[in-house]
Amino acid sequence: MPNRVVVGAQWGDEGKAKIVDFLTEEADWVIRFQGGANAGHTVEVGDQKFIFHLIPAGIMHPGKQCVIGNGVVLDPAQLLHEIEEVRSKGINIDGRLWIADNAQVVLPYHKVLDQLKEKAAGKSAIGTTGRGIGPAYYDKVNRSGIRVGDLLEEASLKEKISRQVAAHNEVIQKMYGGEPLSASDIYDEYLALGRRLAPYVTDTVALVNSAVKQGKRLIFEGAQGTVLDVDHGTYPFVTSSNTVAAAACVGSGVGPTVINQVIGVVKAYTTRVGNGPFPTEITGDIGKELRRIGHEYGATTGRERRCGWFDAVLVRRAAIVNGLTHLAITKMDVMDDFDAIQVCTHYEFKSKRMDQFPSQISTLEHVQPIYETLQGWKAPTVEITRWEDLPKLAQAYLNRLAELLEVPIGLISLGPKRHQTIHLDM
Ligand code: GDP
Ligand code: IMO
Ligand code: MG
Repeated sequence: MPNRVVVGAQWGDEGKAKIVDFLTEEADWVIRFQGGANAGHTVEVGDQKFIFHLIPAGIMHPGKQCVIGNGVVLDPAQLLHEIEEVRSKGINIDGRLWIADNAQVVLPYHKVLDQLKEKAAGKSAIGTTGRGIGPAYYDKVNRSGIRVGDLLEEASLKEKISRQVAAHNEVIQKMYGGEPLSASDIYDEYLALGRRLAPYVTDTVALVNSAVKQGKRLIFEGAQGTVLDVDHGTYPFVTSSNTVAAAACVGSGVGPTVINQVIGVVKAYTTRVGNGPFPTEITGDIGKELRRIGHEYGATTGRERRCGWFDAVLVRRAAIVNGLTHLAITKMDVMDDFDAIQVCTHYEFKSKRMDQFPSQISTLEHVQPIYETLQGWKAPTVEITRWEDLPKLAQAYLNRLAELLEVPIGLISLGPKRHQTIHLDM
């Protein structure tokens, strides 16, 4: 198996974890490289269902190695909670979960600021997950972050935390009129959390590169999606990290030559949680129907996901900025009952045809999606495991998507479970 990056090619929640779990069968290592507990990655195996926020989805496969890379912003309490949950279901993680010592830590003041900032923004709020992601990445780039390795250095931790709490309290109080946080409480809590995390903390850059050298097969698991990328997404309605495939290198400390395949996960339609423009959103009954059939509620916040038709303009942009080699198309089964299915092939803006996804939302907010209508297949697909057995109209839908995106399909997902997958040539 080649070394693969799996990324979301829409607005997140495409079913990345299901795809990563499926592909882990053929892999040795799974590495998360960006984002934090804003991610909600659902894996269903047999009767068990897990929603991972930080632990790589590959953990469900006994014996496979999992890494939380340096590009992640790590919430220690959340991670320990997940570790307990996984353990309680009888999955052994000792000696197979590793945390980068140079990953940034999400601290309580990050979450407080995330929430205060959103509240103060009123109507222009981004609709964040409130997990402190933006403020944590801000501190990283501002060189005022605290890293996982710092939690283990008792001698200097107190001073570092005191300085940061004082600085953040200024903003919390003076800018937002919020309640100040206690540096000594945070120090006590994070020192204890650090001690509990210590067995997993290591130099993951050395670890991952040694796996590469040994010819191990790697999967880099992306979080969020391409149009939530801080550079390539619908800025400012984005997350605070680079979510595209190239971030796999920076966020885990490997060179680009390590990557052989880039798999873009897309739903057979489109969803978005949070605010910001969404050209193919369906606000009427069909949108509600999609939400109902697809169970489109956020895995992290429980919020309703906004639903719409497949947007090929958006995914074409994702194909180029990620260098997609394959598509993994998920949730095909959700479309089983539709008489007709619309696909946006291009936009119209100021009476002109537009084939490229615009980088300015002031344009995106005013584009008109132009649709092509395809006939629905009106037959159940959940039990199908071979391309030949798919209804002809479902094949036609998939072929049309691949043609519009100019990327071949490697995987088709027809249900949340591992076996509900068609593996094409890849
Ligand atoms: P991720 O963040 O990209 O990993 O995706 P989420 O876990 O947030 O959301 C995807 C949801 O769809 C989860 O509830 C999955 O169990 C579910 N899912 C994944 N693939 C399929 C599929 O092919 N069909 C159906 N019906 N559900 C799926
Ligand atoms: P997974 O990995 C869907 C969205 C939020 C908000 C914006 C910024 O499960 O696909 P943040 O908390 O990151 O500052 O919020 O990004 N968002 C996601 N939407 N799936 C996710 O992750 C998301 N992570 C963040 O709803 O609009
Ligand atoms: Mg999700």
